Amino acid sequence: MSAVVVVGAQWGDEGKGKVVDLYAPYADLVVRYAGGANAGHTLVVGGEKLILHLIPSGILHERTRCIVGQGTVIDPGVLLREIEALHARGVPTEERLLVSQRAHVVLPHHKSIDELREKKSNEAIGTTKRGIGPCYEDKVARRGLRMGDLLDGTRLRDKLEANLECWRPVAADLGGTLPTAEDIAAHYSGLGEALREVISDAGAVVRASIRDGEKILLEGAQGTMLDIDNGTYPYVTSSSAVAGGACAGAGIGPTHIGRAIGIAKAYTTRVGGGPFPTELDDETGQQLRDAGAEYGSTTGRPRRCGWLDLVALRHAVTVNGLDEIAITKLDVLTALPALEVCVAYELDGRRLSHPPYERLDAVRPIYETLEGWDEELSGCRSRDDLPTAAQAYLARIEREVGCRVGVVSVGPDREDTADLCDPFGLSAPSTR
Ligand code: IMP
Repeated sequence: MSAVVVVGAQWGDEGKGKVVDLYAPYADLVVRYAGGANAGHTLVVGGEKLILHLIPSGILHERTRCIVGQGTVIDPGVLLREIEALHARGVPTEERLLVSQRAHVVLPHHKSIDELREKKSNEAIGTTKRGIGPCYEDKVARRGLRMGDLLDGTRLRDKLEANLECWRPVAADLGGTLPTAEDIAAHYSGLGEALREVISDAGAVVRASIRDGEKILLEGAQGTMLDIDNGTYPYVTSSSAVAGGACAGAGIGPTHIGRAIGIAKAYTTRVGGGPFPTELDDETGQQLRDAGAEYGSTTGRPRRCGWLDLVALRHAVTVNGLDEIAITKLDVLTALPALEVCVAYELDGRRLSHPPYERLDAVRPIYETLEGWDEELSGCRSRDDLPTAAQAYLARIEREVGCRVGVVSVGPDREDTADLCDPFGLSAPSTR
């Protein structure tokens, strides 16, 4: 099997970083295929905390090469700072990191327009203000700048002039001003020079890797419910976060992907605006936030917390064609006296087993109550080590969403993991 895709099965922040870090030693290549510096994964390197927004966490593994693929949008300043921070901690990136020349560049005005829109709008999305939406707008409007453009000063300036022309009236309407093409070009060609060694035809490298029989991990960002096509539109991000996005975002065909693994927390969180049927605006919600340290690693915002939404997870299983789900943060549920899981929604007197196309804010979650547990989980290394109630919780998830649970994370550290196995293993883990 050449490629395995790892995708967020909820509203992002499912713990993809930890799972990719666990899977990376089995892979030759890790390719991030969507999103930008709106994502964030906290790593501990040599006892020091480091947050990566763009570079896959696989970079810490000596024999794993990493690619930031063509489906991403790249803030070159952020990328350079991440590379420098890795070097400062003794992690080399030479020979290990490549960035696609086709990935689009997040420009300074993308960020300022994102911020101004959020400030002015009555229906703010609650974006990360990293310029993601405006950058993808430029991409689909066919006026964007790509990483390869940073390497040619004249082309960069000309493209910037044309690009800024389009944004000028938008900025004026929002009461903002735009920098000049000269200023941006001067700064960004400097960044391009500093990144020259890593900017390359990364898609060709991924395809060559497939041809050579290497193992490739395709790393998604954000989650299914934030996906531009399958999420809670318009409260979504602007990229194809789902497993299907991995083909276009890495530059490969679907026949090379052998398995799709969805990552889901044992409960649900969401950052930013938009409907969230199982949200808990009470003490239990706060307990989940505290126990799960649910504060954004990119913006520091407190995450909205709620019970596990199996309707959303069922949707993720189907739209991503998941073979397996990795459950993270099961330990966070320890000590809750009873656990609710949302098995269906009710809308206008009808029972729904999948999210409706609109009016998600009007649905009533239908819950079933499961038994809680008090035991500490961090020492559990297999499902059989878990308390009976925790095993029943996982079995219930499998039954409701029709997908096997594989890895179970029971604490923040690498070792706090049950049933870890090779994601490229040809024989599927045993079904229960
Ligand atoms: P944008 O991606 O910054 O445009 O934000 C759009 C929506 O996606 C907002 O609700 C953000 O909070 C959410 N979002 C973007 N990236 C992440 C992430 O990595 N984790 C969780 N939510 C995210």
